[in-house]
Amino acid sequence: MSPAGDTSPLIDWQDGQPVSRHFGDVYFSRDSGLEETRHVFLEGNGLRERWAALPPRGRFTIGETGFGTGLNFAAAWALWEEAAPAEARLRYVSVERDPLAPADIARTLGMWPELARYREALLAQWSEVPPGWHRFVFAGGRVVLTLLAGDVSAALPRLDGRVDAWFLDGFAPARNPEMWQPKVLAQVARLSATGATCATYTVAGEVRRGLEAAGFAVEKTPGFGRKREMLRGVLRTPPRSRWHAPWFARPARHAEERRAIVIGAGLAGTSTAASLAARGWSVMLLDRHETIAAEASGNPQGALYARLSPHATALTEFATTGLEYTARGLSLLGLERGADYDPCGVLQLEYDDSERIRQSRLAAQDWPTGFLARLDRSEASARAGVAVLSGGLFFPRTGWVRPPALCNALATHPAVEMALGRAALSLRQVTSGWEVRAGAAPIASAPVVVIAASGASAAFGETAHLPLRSIRGQLTLVPESPASRPLRTVLCGEGYIAPAIGGIHSLGATHKFRDTSTRVTAAEHTENLAKLAALAPALYAALGAERLDPTRLAGRAALRCSSPDYLPIIGPVVDATRFAAAYARLAHDATLEIDTPSPWLDGLCVNTAHGSRGLVTAPLSGELLAAYLDDEPAPLPGSVVDAVHPSRFLLRRLIRRRL
Ligand SMILES: Cc1cc2nc3c(=O)[nH]c(=O)nc-3n(C[C@H](O)[C@H](O)[C@H](O)COP(=O)(O)OP(=O)(O)OC[C@H]3O[C@@H](n4cnc5c(N)ncnc54)[C@H](O)[C@@H]3O)c2cc1C
Ligand SMILES: C[S@@+](CC[C@H](N)C(=O)[O-])C[C@H]1O[C@@H](n2cnc3c(N)ncnc32)[C@H](O)[C@@H]1O
Repeated sequence: MSPAGDTSPLIDWQDGQPVSRHFGDVYFSRDSGLEETRHVFLEGNGLRERWAALPPRGRFTIGETGFGTGLNFAAAWALWEEAAPAEARLRYVSVERDPLAPADIARTLGMWPELARYREALLAQWSEVPPGWHRFVFAGGRVVLTLLAGDVSAALPRLDGRVDAWFLDGFAPARNPEMWQPKVLAQVARLSATGATCATYTVAGEVRRGLEAAGFAVEKTPGFGRKREMLRGVLRTPPRSRWHAPWFARPARHAEERRAIVIGAGLAGTSTAASLAARGWSVMLLDRHETIAAEASGNPQGALYARLSPHATALTEFATTGLEYTARGLSLLGLERGADYDPCGVLQLEYDDSERIRQSRLAAQDWPTGFLARLDRSEASARAGVAVLSGGLFFPRTGWVRPPALCNALATHPAVEMALGRAALSLRQVTSGWEVRAGAAPIASAPVVVIAASGASAAFGETAHLPLRSIRGQLTLVPESPASRPLRTVLCGEGYIAPAIGGIHSLGATHKFRDTSTRVTAAEHTENLAKLAALAPALYAALGAERLDPTRLAGRAALRCSSPDYLPIIGPVVDATRFAAAYARLAHDATLEIDTPSPWLDGLCVNTAHGSRGLVTAPLSGELLAAYLDDEPAPLPGSVVDAVHPSRFLLRRLIRRRL
């Protein structure tokens, strides 16, 4: 990676030190950034001793205001390697309004050869970071970074998690007052675990008073370098955190034993298994077929693609985080580029007026071009390698994936045991958790069961209240031709076509409600070919599509599972009857504050309804479930976590008096 020069929009390099152009302040001490970090943040929070004292499979969460160059992160990770037990897990949540470019991070962290390993690991995943939340998994899950790319005042109130130690590292309070406002420090306290500590290099009066007002006992201790003093604090009285209403609150921690059965080995189930295994769980992955990815996730090729809204809807927030999370994972999972996936980009064409308006609104927002760029017609044709009729939005980091290859890679972990050819027919709650049964016979039992069985997820008595529906879809497989070979990106409009794998293009896909057959039909091939003709007539001609006989074309049909609001369903499951009784009063006044805890079915979770975007939403869904089950910070804003919560439908029905 080439070092950033003076062209960096955020950093002004002065005497080899990074200085913020906007704030006119240094990112860290000119004396030695790394030594300062060790003194102020690592020692200031007593991390070496606390980490050495963790239980063998302990967890620790750091919260940071101001990710900056990643120096604190890299230094903390280095200490974690030295001091924490090998099976322990570090969670690092950091907020950053102006994420730096990779070249800036590379140049800064390059100042310390002892951090080279952590710098390389970070840079292997770091690209121009778009606004939103981002989850980075390092060292097979030993270290997980959740980066909240946005303003601290907006981001922290949406965070759900319990932080053990805080690195308060905004620029100097006089230059960067927003980072030290009482309302930000109140959020720091809200997000703190019992006994949480904080440390900062500044002793500014407003910071000390703000921390005290938020509930920290603060003391001044010797500072680093030219700074005489610094502050460290301990939370005295944890405030009562009420982020989620009780009906969406997290269940109390599950059994200490980290063992789960996941029902369904498609994208949702394998993603769940992967996220749990990365946290030291033993997982039995159960499927009714003899192979994994045998249903919707068995398509030969899929587009890593989402239509983002210019408004920050839950779906758009989920999709932005999910797109980036899946795209990063593809290169880390040992998949073969070109055979299993290709980050060749996705071009969404402006195929009608409403699409043009959506795209121009999105393009007017603050997305880095490495994430999303608007192209005119000639740029779009050049990108695509074939002539297209309009401009569009180009997502350079996404592309196509072979879903079964992704499922295989996700499920390949020594802690994941496959149990294939076994259909789960019912569940039974037992003292040690849940028994998964096939008829009268138990298949296996575990403290935790996650149902990731797509449309069949509501076939269990415990989940029968989930309003799932199936949407049939068919892909058409067309042999490539010399004239179609130049196609270089996935093209999307009302349908999509991807560059060929093994000489075959996938084009799709149809959407049929009220049809649960998975038979391939000529009529749906005709529909897919018509979509291609509208999307890219040049490609249609290049493939000789006019002469193709739909009755002889190959294809694949499967059922997507969708929810009424088109969001996935991810999270813990309640006893529906007791839920209705607990919150019955909401039917008369939906604004009532009710403290009754939700009647969870302890240890039972669901992960389904990934609709037409499983590649975008499923991998991240595993991380969300793992956050519930391992009591970790969620990878998504609290409002999005609530928006995909399984209890939302019961609640809506209750409020509309339909329960
Ligand atoms: C034609 C078509 C094209 C698509 N194109 C794209 C695309 O381009 N991009 C994209 O992101 N998404 C696409 N999708 C959507 C994507 O395929 C799905 O979102 C995703 O596969 C859903 O994964 P899943 O694990 O929830 O479901 P599935 O893959 O269906 O897995 C569910 C699993 O549960 C198992 N199961 C069910 N009941 C039981 C039981 N009782 N006991 C044991 N096992 C059970 C099933 O055997 C199955 O293996 C497409 C879908 C279709 C149909
Ligand atoms: C002193 S630097 C952090 C240094 C960093 N911890 C490191 O290890 O390199 C302060 C950071 O706070 C960020 N920042 C400033 N104001 C912010 C705000 N309102 N919201 C979020 N981040 C902000 C800056 O962009 C900058 O990266």
